[in-house]
Amino acid sequence: MPSFDSHHQPDGRLLQSGVKFTVIPETLQSPFKDHFPAYYKGLVRAEPGGFVIHPKFVNNAEKIYNMKVRSDDVWIRTFPRSGTTWTSELTWLIMNDCNFEEAARVGQPIRSPNLDANYINHWDKFAAEGSFDTMDIITIDEIEKMPSPRVLKCHLPFDLLPPNLLDTAKVIYVARNPKDAIVSLFYFHKLVNLCTFTGDLETFVDYFLDNKVLWTPYFGTVLDAWGKRSHPNLLILFYEDMKKDIRAQIKRISTFLNKPVTPEQIEKLVDHVRFDKFSKNESVNYTKEIKAGVGKDDPNNTFVRKGQTGGWKNHFSPEVNRKIDEWIAKNLEGTGLKFVTELNDQ
Ligand code: A3P
Repeated sequence: MPSFDSHHQPDGRLLQSGVKFTVIPETLQSPFKDHFPAYYKGLVRAEPGGFVIHPKFVNNAEKIYNMKVRSDDVWIRTFPRSGTTWTSELTWLIMNDCNFEEAARVGQPIRSPNLDANYINHWDKFAAEGSFDTMDIITIDEIEKMPSPRVLKCHLPFDLLPPNLLDTAKVIYVARNPKDAIVSLFYFHKLVNLCTFTGDLETFVDYFLDNKVLWTPYFGTVLDAWGKRSHPNLLILFYEDMKKDIRAQIKRISTFLNKPVTPEQIEKLVDHVRFDKFSKNESVNYTKEIKAGVGKDDPNNTFVRKGQTGGWKNHFSPEVNRKIDEWIAKNLEGTGLKFVTELNDQ
């Protein structure tokens, strides 16, 4: 069990990155604190950029900003619930000569650690309660010592990451249409005790569009990556393209990483990440952590949950959908980015 830093509130100090964190006042008040009881110290906003993050991140901000990037690293960046785990698994396997035995033996949180696990929540509180004995959290210090090649993941924007990241290492950004990402993040907040949302989806959508949910604003990170799409070290993948033709996306990842895969390996990779199989794969599905107290043991709401495009249609009222459409149109205007929100074949 790693040691956990004590929990500081941001002091409004300008960090080395030029970013300042301040507590969002409304997140300390009702109704927010009743809707998101796990954020009992509120959420903070990074300026410039407006990124919303857990106050615990502030303790780690300089450490993450100063991480040593290696030229053979692969960094996977996403807005949460956009296919991070799916993409990390494929990327780790492609980088490791399709070593399926090792992928089964060692859980993904260890093989391909998530920087966010270090700060999103009150690990110190939960660790003190002894409820996380089986949680695999790799600290930033441990990530610094990992053997190469590393496959790392996070939900942070470029300006909170090492400034030489994109010019030094390969970065894969995975985007998912915001409608399905919102629904999936809502379910994640119902599943994971460290987030927790007590309200309904409609209320969650309001917080989301108002940039008061952890990791928002959604378009901040997506458009930042989209703006850098011609950088040779950046590959942008879309969840919906992966649903439509996973073989084509595996080939793109392999070409981008300069790690050839044989046709047989491609078929094995496709089979390995097939949704029904993946959802039962204990190396990626967090079942044991959830059963150990990280989340609510609910067969209808699992970490690898539905894996569909267009599920939002069963969730949003016409009015909520209209509101989201307007928000999407406003944010995408002039960007050239379009999202697929429905698929016939998947
Ligand atoms: P849903 O909640 O819509 O089912 P992340 O890994 O970034 O947290 O993303 C989680 C989302 O990706 C969940 O979406 C999950 O079910 C989906 N997902 C995970 N593995 C998948 C796979 N192999 N195929 C399709 N979707 C997958």
